[in-house]
Amino acid sequence: MSFLLPKSQERPNQRPPRRVEPASIIAVGSGKGGVGKTFMSITLASAMAQAGRRTLLVDGDLGLANVDVQLGIAPETDLAAVIAGWVELEDAVTPVDGGSANGGFDVLPGRSGSGALAEMSSEEVARLAAGLSALALQYDQVILDLGAGIEANCMRLARAADKVLMVITDEPTSMTDAYAFIKVLKGYAPSVEQMIAINQCETRAAGQSTFSAVAQACQTFLGFRPQLAGTVIRDDAVREAIRSQKTLISTNASSQPIQDVIAIAHTLLGRTGQELHS
Ligand SMILES: Nc1ncnc2c1ncn2[C@@H]1O[C@H](COP(=O)(O)OP(=O)(O)OP(=O)(O)O)[C@@H](O)[C@H]1O
Ligand SMILES: [Mg+2]
Repeated sequence: MSFLLPKSQERPNQRPPRRVEPASIIAVGSGKGGVGKTFMSITLASAMAQAGRRTLLVDGDLGLANVDVQLGIAPETDLAAVIAGWVELEDAVTPVDGGSANGGFDVLPGRSGSGALAEMSSEEVARLAAGLSALALQYDQVILDLGAGIEANCMRLARAADKVLMVITDEPTSMTDAYAFIKVLKGYAPSVEQMIAINQCETRAAGQSTFSAVAQACQTFLGFRPQLAGTVIRDDAVREAIRSQKTLISTNASSQPIQDVIAIAHTLLGRTGQELHS
């Protein structure tokens, strides 16, 4: 599997054709930081691209961006430049392994240390969200990697999604922060579907039990029960891949965490009636 390699960052020679319907936008959130959102987002994007879907991965963690770092790419421009008004949103699209027109996928990178999202006004975030929705016309799938936390601007970006995938681990702080995120988003954007992925599980049973605890709290206090998208097993190979800035899907696609995220991709798309042909 050759996509995701940092070598090909050339501009794509053809833009994906426009669609009538915009792509479905899946945001990946968590509340607590460091639980695996970026790993999940990159792996979902590559799995969907591999399955032939034109895919755009957006680094919505504008203050502490790290999609580019995990991918090992050095983009020429980024969302911070878009927000500053220096480049158009479309021109910040960086192709990975040929881009979405050539079997890879496209990335809208953030810029670490820019503090961009925190400093944006609600109008600026709304403009960015509208720009993403317009850009989504060129894709089948948009994956939006959110930052940690539940600040208003993070919620405004999440509201642009059709679906939010919450990444949660078995740590109580992850579970309570995720519950807070789910609660705030439900109040702010009730039509956005929320699903849960439990990451870094020791066993499937442990993952299921973490899910049950969060889902039960949602059922009791919020009156709805989010669905489980899947569980991802803890494997040191994820950490090693991130340390070497090579994606695990490009180096070991048969590893358990990758197989688990691919299964989550199937679940996410199956629920919208779209098939992931792989
Ligand atoms: N399934 C897994 N097995 C083992 N380790 C994992 C797994 N998923 C994530 N990790 C570890 O968690 C760390 C954080 O992952 P990642 O950067 O994707 O989290 P994040 O939620 O995006 O963090 P942030 O909130 O800072 O953006 C990784 O560096 C990796 O070491
Ligand atoms: Mg991240």
